This record gives sequence, C-alpha cells and structure tokens, in this order.
Amino acid sequence: MTTAQRIDLNNITVYVEEGLDAVGERAAEVFCAALDEAPTASFGFATGSTPVCMYQDLIKRYNAGTLDMSGIKAFNLDEYYPIQKTNDQSYEYFMSTELFNHVNVDPANRDIPNGEAADPEAECARYEAAVRATDNYKLQILGIGENGHIGFNEPTDTFPAKTNHVDLTASTIEANARFFDSIDDVPTQALTMGVGTIMQAEKILLIATGPKKSQIIADCLVGGITPHVAGSALQLHRDVTVVLDADAAQELLARL
Ligand code: F6R
Repeated sequence: MTTAQRIDLNNITVYVEEGLDAVGERAAEVFCAALDEAPTASFGFATGSTPVCMYQDLIKRYNAGTLDMSGIKAFNLDEYYPIQKTNDQSYEYFMSTELFNHVNVDPANRDIPNGEAADPEAECARYEAAVRATDNYKLQILGIGENGHIGFNEPTDTFPAKTNHVDLTASTIEANARFFDSIDDVPTQALTMGVGTIMQAEKILLIATGPKKSQIIADCLVGGITPHVAGSALQLHRDVTVVLDADAAQELLARL
C-alpha cells in the first residue's frame, strides 16, 4: 500500500494514513508481517473503538484465505472488573464479536484477565505469570486513552510494572460511557497489564485516530517520559510502530 506520510523517530516509526480504512490496512499489514515472522508466537490484542478498523481488515484477509491465526496464543490488555464474560460490554465479549468469532484463533489459546474472578489480585498474578511464561511475546496492539493510558494504566506517580487491579479515573469512565446505556453502568475498576508487562513485547503497534487523540499522541511520542502519561514509556521501547489518521497526527506534526 502507498503511505500518506512516514516519520522515523529513533525507535518509533509513525505512519500517517488517510482515513480509517487505510489506518486499518496499515495496522493489519504490520500485524501480518509479525505473524509471518512468528506464526506460533503470542500476540496481545486491544479493545475499544480504535482497533476495529484493523480487525475488519484482518477478517477480510482471513476470508480471502491470506491470513492464518491458528498457531498463535492471544492475550488481551485488560478487562473491566467486575464483569460477567457474557455482558456485551465485557472485553471478552468484544474480542469474540469483533475478531475471534471471524478468524481461526484456537479458543484454547485465548487468555484475557478474568473479570469474574473472585479474587482480583490473585487473577492479576495468574495473568502476569501467563504473559511472562510465553517464550515469544511477539507484538502488542495498543490504543491510547485521552489521558495517555495504555491498557488501563491511568495517570499515576510510578509506572505499574505488572498486571494490576485499578480504579478507573473519572475521565476514562466518561470517555467509555459512550458504549453504555448510562455513565452509572460503566464499571469503575479494571484488571490491566502493567506498563512493564506491555514493554515485554518484542514489538508494539499503537493505533490512534480522531482529533481527540492529537494532543496525547504528541505528548506520548515527543513529550517528557512520565507515568502521568503512561504511553510515554513507549519512547523507551526498542520497536514501536504507530499508525495514525491525519486528525490524530496533527499536533505531533506541528511539534516536529
Ligand atoms: C483497550 C484499552 C484502552 C483503549 C483506550 C482507547 O483494551 O486498553 O487503553 O485502547 O481507552 O480507547 P478507544 O479506542 O475506544 O478510544
């Protein structure tokens, strides 16, 4: 595919694409290149509205017979807590309906923090051990919160190293209320990979679209490294690809 714009920032390659279809196609291309290199590796998935364009492109490739995900182990960044897996707002449900029901990831090879766990701290420890036990954690897909969170690592004073049980901030609850009937229905807690967990991945693929992500993308990629903007830790990762649409790229391009 042709690239609207490519920017190289040390360890970070940024693609700016025209429109959601092109963002989805570029992100899927990055994913598929990693999958070709390591068809039996572990891949970390993300939820939220941002990666949907990429998942749609992956489903197209699967239907065209050019994508085989049968060998991978699939992890996910996070899950609301507490939440039933059958709740249509759970991330378990999201991943099934938006991707996994349409491609050939083995259900036995899917793992996501369990929002039904009786003991959330024990579940975080189990999940962290499962991610760390994988011998080839090839690529982690990320979206970004307007407050800079990756996973649900909300602004704080230290980078969370491991999977942890967090309180969501008011701004995240407000941002996610669009998926629920009312803001009162948004869970106030989550289980999330830590920033340290995410940084274990060999490659990171961050996707952001829309004008609401413009400021925070610039802060993450060329601002100071601080746990108050969890995504700024990506400046310390060795292999990051960022796929943006023109709206999300605006402030970054202005600062370069
Ligand atoms: C999702 C996740 C979050 C989202 C972020 C952006 O698994 O961990 O960090 O990526 O909140 O959400 P959207 O894409 O809905 O703007």
